[in-house]
Amino acid sequence: MSASTGAVAPDIAAAVAALRAGELVAFPTETVYGLGADARNPEALRKVYALKGRPSTHPLILHVLSADDLKDWVSDIPAPARALTSRFWPGPLTIVLPRSTRVSDELTGGQDTVAIRVPAHPVARALLAAFGGGIAAPSANRYGRVSPTRASHVREEFPEGLLVLEGGDCEVGLESTIVSLVDAVPRLLRPGSISRADLETVLGESVKVGSSADTPRVPGSTVQHYAPQTPLELVPSGALSTAEAAAAARGERVVTLACPPSSDPATYGRRLYAELRRLDKLGASRILVESVPQSPQWDAVRDRLSRAAATFL
Ligand code: TXA
Ligand code: MG
Repeated sequence: MSASTGAVAPDIAAAVAALRAGELVAFPTETVYGLGADARNPEALRKVYALKGRPSTHPLILHVLSADDLKDWVSDIPAPARALTSRFWPGPLTIVLPRSTRVSDELTGGQDTVAIRVPAHPVARALLAAFGGGIAAPSANRYGRVSPTRASHVREEFPEGLLVLEGGDCEVGLESTIVSLVDAVPRLLRPGSISRADLETVLGESVKVGSSADTPRVPGSTVQHYAPQTPLELVPSGALSTAEAAAAARGERVVTLACPPSSDPATYGRRLYAELRRLDKLGASRILVESVPQSPQWDAVRDRLSRAAATFL
């Protein structure tokens, strides 16, 4: 919108100038804040890995303005990709496809596939429109830490003067669903607010969970992810006060995160990372988190909680 009228907001204009100069910019999306770089500038992409402390073999997610941009980045757009993009873009879905020869190794971590999404957040869209190209962006947190869901979280992660576009609290609050369309069967690589059932409904076929032996490793699938600094322990549903009392009896100071029976997964997911950051600052020896329901609607939340807990096993 702003690009076509010529009236680009000052912060967007500054962000575009930074991207064109090969600098990094943090920006809001509907899922979490991203740490963005010009996706066609390998030098800028290397800065993303350096600032995050992320291994250079772990690929980034490419953000583009619309599904029409896919052709510039992938070698083939199979029918299932068209079905998913017309239903879910703009929105919290990332699709993995074979990359075009013009895509750099820095973007894909050296793999022959590329992960792409079209974000829905108006600030992300204004930035993409004004920039006029693709923006590579992992979540704007240091490697292995909790993803940021508000601008102040990004400033906590990177205090040294990174340009951060303000976009309020992220509406989804958990990272996008990632589906790979590289193999003969679609594979869910990371659960998110768009569920496996949502994908299967649109695709008209079943979606496998997890990567095949030859699918590249997803950093989110290693245990050192989504973790606060304070050890996090999952306790069975309904057992929070017992566990808290037991800890208190041992003289241990713990903090708790409950999951009342009335909780809905969307609201819980939206608040989870901000809550973990808040609890992490209370100087407790452990964060006790009540387990969430086993039902599919809770898959994304359960996935993030179990990874955060697994770090300290
Ligand atoms: O919601 C999101 O997706 C956010 C916002 C900023 O868009 N981004 C995000 O990026 O979560 P990051 O880097 O924290 O996670 C990117 C995930 C990683 O798990 C990575 O391995 C996976 O995407 N990924 C990227 N390219 C891939 C590829 N070619 N094949 C398989 N997985 C890929
Ligand atoms: Mg991340």
